[in-house]
Amino acid sequence: MLLCSVSASGASLYAQSPTFGLGHTPKAEDLKAIDIEVTPDGKGLAPGRGTAEAGKTTYANRCATCHGPTGVEGPQDVLVGGQGSLKAPAQPLKTIGSYWPYATTIWDYIRRAMPFDHPGTLTPDQIYETTAYLLFLNGIVGEHDVLDQTTLPQVKMPNRDGFVIDPRPDIRPDTTTTTPNSRKPQSPPKKGS
Ligand code: HEC
Repeated sequence: MLLCSVSASGASLYAQSPTFGLGHTPKAEDLKAIDIEVTPDGKGLAPGRGTAEAGKTTYANRCATCHGPTGVEGPQDVLVGGQGSLKAPAQPLKTIGSYWPYATTIWDYIRRAMPFDHPGTLTPDQIYETTAYLLFLNGIVGEHDVLDQTTLPQVKMPNRDGFVIDPRPDIRPDTTTTTPNSRKPQSPPKKGS
């Protein structure tokens, strides 16, 4: 009981701590700028469109120096190939084509992180077309397939069903979402129960 009251007053002290003149309360537009999550079903995708054909040039200009002319040469992450290599005895090659379960995540990732040296500089159309080009190089979409808010979530990635639920007994699936990695650790058993 004593323990309870101490921690409760600790929490209220924290809430009432004085302002030190650092930072500011974020404005609605500050929050909007970082609220750019795209979920596997495509929620959060910006309007726009692109084909692999159009993405070839953008990729050559903005991506190839680091990922190679066809996505396999590097020097940075290999983006193409590796399909079928995730099962032993093959040496696994994890690329967006062989490993990533959702095409929408590629769009989200490119928007927030690429090009590595100038993130945030691509237009939505450029993001759709480079995503399309990488999917095309991986043999997942055709060169003229139009990817947009509706069609991108419909792309079925080769490893979509390759994720399994963690069988460890202290980990249980989070039933509120279908994202493969979102699992809540079970809360420890209560004392005396
Ligand atoms: C200056 C170098 C550079 C440029 C230019 C660049 N990238 Fe990257 N890219 C990287 C690095 C480094 C990583 C790994 C980042 C990490 O693991 O945190 C990466 C990772 C990625 C990944 C994730 C790969 C994986 O399997 O995890 C994708 C997808 C990607 N880049 C796409 C692009 C696209 C599309 C462009 C062009 C619009 C681009 N990159 C331009 C350096 C670059």
